[in-house]
Amino acid sequence: MSFKIVYMFVILFLTKSSLQQSRRLGKFREVFAWKQLTYNINGNLLLQDRFGDVEDRQKRETDKIVFQTDKQDAGDRNWNQPPKHATDNTTTAEPNSEVGRFFIQYNNLPMGVERVGERLFITVPRRRYGIPSTLNYIDLKDTKSRSPALRPYPDLWQARSLTSVYRTRADKCGRLWMVDTGLLEIPDNPQQIQTPAIVIFDLNTNKQILRYPLKSSDLPAANTPTGLASITVDVNEDCSDAYAYIVDLTTFGIIVYSLKENDSWRHTHAYFHFNPTAANLNIAGESFQWSDGIFSITLTEPQTDGCRTAYFHPMISTEEFSVSTCVLKDRAIRNSRSYFTLYSYVGKRGENSQTTMHDYHPKSGAIFFADIGRDAVSCWNTGKMLNPSNVALLARDRQRMSYPSDLHVTDDEVWVMANTLPRFGYSRLDTNEYNFYIYSGNVNELIADTVCSAPPTYFG
Ligand SMILES: *[C@@H]1O[C@H](CO)[C@@H](O)[C@H](O)[C@H]1NC(C)=O
Ligand SMILES: *[C@@H]1O[C@H](CO)[C@@H](O)[C@H](O)[C@H]1NC(C)=O
Repeated sequence: MSFKIVYMFVILFLTKSSLQQSRRLGKFREVFAWKQLTYNINGNLLLQDRFGDVEDRQKRETDKIVFQTDKQDAGDRNWNQPPKHATDNTTTAEPNSEVGRFFIQYNNLPMGVERVGERLFITVPRRRYGIPSTLNYIDLKDTKSRSPALRPYPDLWQARSLTSVYRTRADKCGRLWMVDTGLLEIPDNPQQIQTPAIVIFDLNTNKQILRYPLKSSDLPAANTPTGLASITVDVNEDCSDAYAYIVDLTTFGIIVYSLKENDSWRHTHAYFHFNPTAANLNIAGESFQWSDGIFSITLTEPQTDGCRTAYFHPMISTEEFSVSTCVLKDRAIRNSRSYFTLYSYVGKRGENSQTTMHDYHPKSGAIFFADIGRDAVSCWNTGKMLNPSNVALLARDRQRMSYPSDLHVTDDEVWVMANTLPRFGYSRLDTNEYNFYIYSGNVNELIADTVCSAPPTYFG
């Protein structure tokens, strides 16, 4: 080997190892990335497809825990049970049945991400067969790997009492809120396993403390559960007096839940609908047309009337709207003649700014957006007019920021998941490449020297 070639290898090696030390995208740091997901269930790693029965005794005992379904009424969830006909063959399952399909690795696509303390919650909605657990976490304290295994939250048994969760949101009272759509959302074979419900876990005891099934009046159509994509929690001093706002992107509504009243109601408005002129998308090399309505709601701090401004947008739209939470909390207000005028048009974010989630950062007044239409994360300061020139792109990459599916502000950090969803849906992921990414960034670093930094305040 010539000296030149050796020299080249050394350079390549050095470049590679320095990249591994800190992978960045704009001012974001890559925290984790996966080619495909794996799970850690009570110390047993699921690294490849697993059907209901396995041969060796030790694993079989593990699976007994895994498949124990007699503790509670598991209902008719046959997708959640091992094969009825035990077989010695470890690698076969009925090709057209979910029965016994515990883990089909390729089908596991992460959707939601949220940091709460040292735990990073990651959701995997059941839109295909073979998802072992829809609610999971990673312990940030002892995770060195770039691609750590997900752990069911709080444990496999409780996680498997949930059918399908898109995104979680924690409140300041130590609770983790989510919507379980109750829907096994398999293309061509959807099954409504449970009534869609609001579920709350206590993060200190790791116990489920509420499962509130939505009322039939909250769910106007059979396909409404497919669109319960996000939940926003509104709580002031009194933790027992919390509200949750759930988007319904399929049949265009906001479902409001009052914890104190243990009751829910629904609001509708034309601003919850999609804008057809924003419906054509080209993401991850796929071109398609979507029609998702209201997708994300984020809240400012309370104003003098005790209510917050709720900023919201349909996903298929490049515009932002707002309404006071006083309006959302008032179940009778929709009967008022002026109801429709209580909502405001805020402004335009710019071309290809279709976005999934957005979140408000109280100290700076900035809102961060997960822009699927331009493979980017952007921001806007709410102290300024919303127009494209007041929106900054903070990170953009066709491959590494393909379909940012969740974005959440925790303290002064912005956390983002990107999952390449359209390629999964319309084509096929390359499992030799990284497909799922989680990033975090410091708010002050992200907005420094951009139009999103706070507008100057004048005194006197
Ligand atoms: C086990 O599965 C393999 C691969 O699918 C198949 O070729 C084989 O015939 C099966 N064996 C039994 C005993 O069913
Ligand atoms: C809340 O309402 C649901 C039914 O809508 C009921 O099953 C549940 O027991 C109620 N919870 C409390 C704490 O009252």
